[in-house]
Amino acid sequence: MRPEQGAEVQQQGIVVKLIIAAIKPFKLEEVREALTTIGVRGMMVTEIKGFGSQSGHTEIYRGAEYAVNFVPKVRLEIVVPDSLADPVVETIRTTAKTDKIGDGKIFVLDVEQAVRVRTGEINDDAL
Ligand SMILES: Nc1ncnc2c1ncn2[C@@H]1O[C@H](COP(=O)(O)OP(=O)(O)OP(=O)(O)O)[C@@H](O)[C@H]1O
Ligand SMILES: [Mg+2]
Repeated sequence: MRPEQGAEVQQQGIVVKLIIAAIKPFKLEEVREALTTIGVRGMMVTEIKGFGSQSGHTEIYRGAEYAVNFVPKVRLEIVVPDSLADPVVETIRTTAKTDKIGDGKIFVLDVEQAVRVRTGEINDDAL
């Protein structure tokens, strides 16, 4: 597929989504495994710090209450065909959940284009 066909394809409803999630670090391996099982073939992982609605104050990390406003999290970035976006969100949601505060957030965005560097394939072919 030519790169300039990307826009046409997206108009036909074949889109690629980016899921950004912040999760508890100890849940990373379980989430990665669950995502692999449903067909996710790549992801980016970054160690971050962040805060949510408690501003980090009342959250426990490794047994200690964090006195500061930022709590360690892992940020996942996963680009998938549109059809996998809902399963990815649901898998992260159920796997990363501990029922305690600070379990994380999931955001879903449209991706304009994905390119595999080695071959030049684009969009879902590039994943
Ligand atoms: N509005 C936001 N924008 C960007 N990142 C966010 C936002 N809210 C939370 N995050 C990220 O998600 C992480 C976890 O947030 P957290 O789960 O504490 O959200 P919350 O709204 O406080 O929910 P809970 O009440 O379950 O703790 C934060 O450390 C931060 O990295
Ligand atoms: Mg919180």
